[in-house]
Amino acid sequence: MSENTNTSQKRIIDPSQTNEDYGAKKLRPNYLEEFIGQKNIKEKLKVAIQAAKIRKEAMDHIILAGPPGLGKTTLAYIISNEMGANLQITSGPVIEKAGDLAAILTNLEKGDILFIDEIHRLNRTVEEILYSAMEDFQLDIVIGKGPSARSIRIDLQPFTLVGATTRLGLIAPPLRSRFGIILEVDFYTPEDLTQIIKRSSDLLNIEIEDEASIVLAERSRGTPRIANRLLRRVRDYVQVSKKKIIKVEDVYSTMKLLEMDEDGLDKMDRKILRTIIENYEGGPVGINALASSIGIEPDSISEVYEPFLLQSGFIIRTPRGRVATKKAYQRLNYPFKTEKQNISLWSEVDE
Ligand SMILES: Nc1ncnc2c1ncn2[C@@H]1O[C@H](COP(=O)(O)OP(=O)(O)OP(=O)(O)O)[C@@H](O)[C@H]1O
Ligand SMILES: [Mg+2]
Repeated sequence: MSENTNTSQKRIIDPSQTNEDYGAKKLRPNYLEEFIGQKNIKEKLKVAIQAAKIRKEAMDHIILAGPPGLGKTTLAYIISNEMGANLQITSGPVIEKAGDLAAILTNLEKGDILFIDEIHRLNRTVEEILYSAMEDFQLDIVIGKGPSARSIRIDLQPFTLVGATTRLGLIAPPLRSRFGIILEVDFYTPEDLTQIIKRSSDLLNIEIEDEASIVLAERSRGTPRIANRLLRRVRDYVQVSKKKIIKVEDVYSTMKLLEMDEDGLDKMDRKILRTIIENYEGGPVGINALASSIGIEPDSISEVYEPFLLQSGFIIRTPRGRVATKKAYQRLNYPFKTEKQNISLWSEVDE
């Protein structure tokens, strides 16, 4: 995820990465064994890694898809560690010209892993270069312009492309079909998050009571990045009050300071729900209209805020836009109008 634009204040529960998180590198698991949850993904990766090692070949190209903060970048690091391969990191918006990508690709060594974050943001000309690179490890580039232009072919070392995206639906079919493995990372269960919080508090050298880690996990919106960030906030709170161990009261107090409720919703979430209910009679409302009413980018809603609201059932997506559910009305203490329930639920459209 790129930085989340336009909101004046950074949200504690914004799952996108902030500078603070860079200091948290040590919390990042380095090997599959340490990676908590996402059992299915771990199993698939384990097989793919072992097979590639046996064949002494580069692994199949992989897409890691899912909402921000769920471990896509972490998995890319893990893959390179497990393969004992170099990792080159770049991102879709950074590669502006075909030549930029050509330079990266020709510098890769045998078996290297190229991680392209936000791969859905590659521009078309750059993307087309990738096709033959991924398929045949060859680069076809045109040199010069007009009548003197000619095409040359360069052989590349076999490499593995690992692409991460928050928007799998935006990856064009020709690119998508060149990935052998598509892994969709999902929100974590409270049990997994409890384990992640315990592991992180060990690494941060702070003790946490079981009940406190459970309550913290429930408020972390299914997202390890948020769990770690909240843990650091509670740790600050506890250390300032000169205590040695995090207790459940400390979690409650910190949450209150951060204006978060028991579902992990904060002011911005409540504003989104309130806008749908008050300004659009509960919806359906299109993402652009909603974003402009609130004063944020449509992409921020669809990539950052909305996934959790959808997954926890506060809103649903219909062909005509977003609709606030009964749960949302109840959470914000509005009377629920039953005729709104007629909205069709059958289709999920990505605007
Ligand atoms: N399964 C896990 N076990 C333990 N910690 C995890 C796990 N997944 C993620 N984390 C922690 O959460 C943080 C965020 O993960 P990561 O940066 O990999 O997310 P991401 O999916 O790449 O997000 P973005 O879409 O914003 O790039 C990591 O620094 C790591 O500490
Ligand atoms: Mg990432």
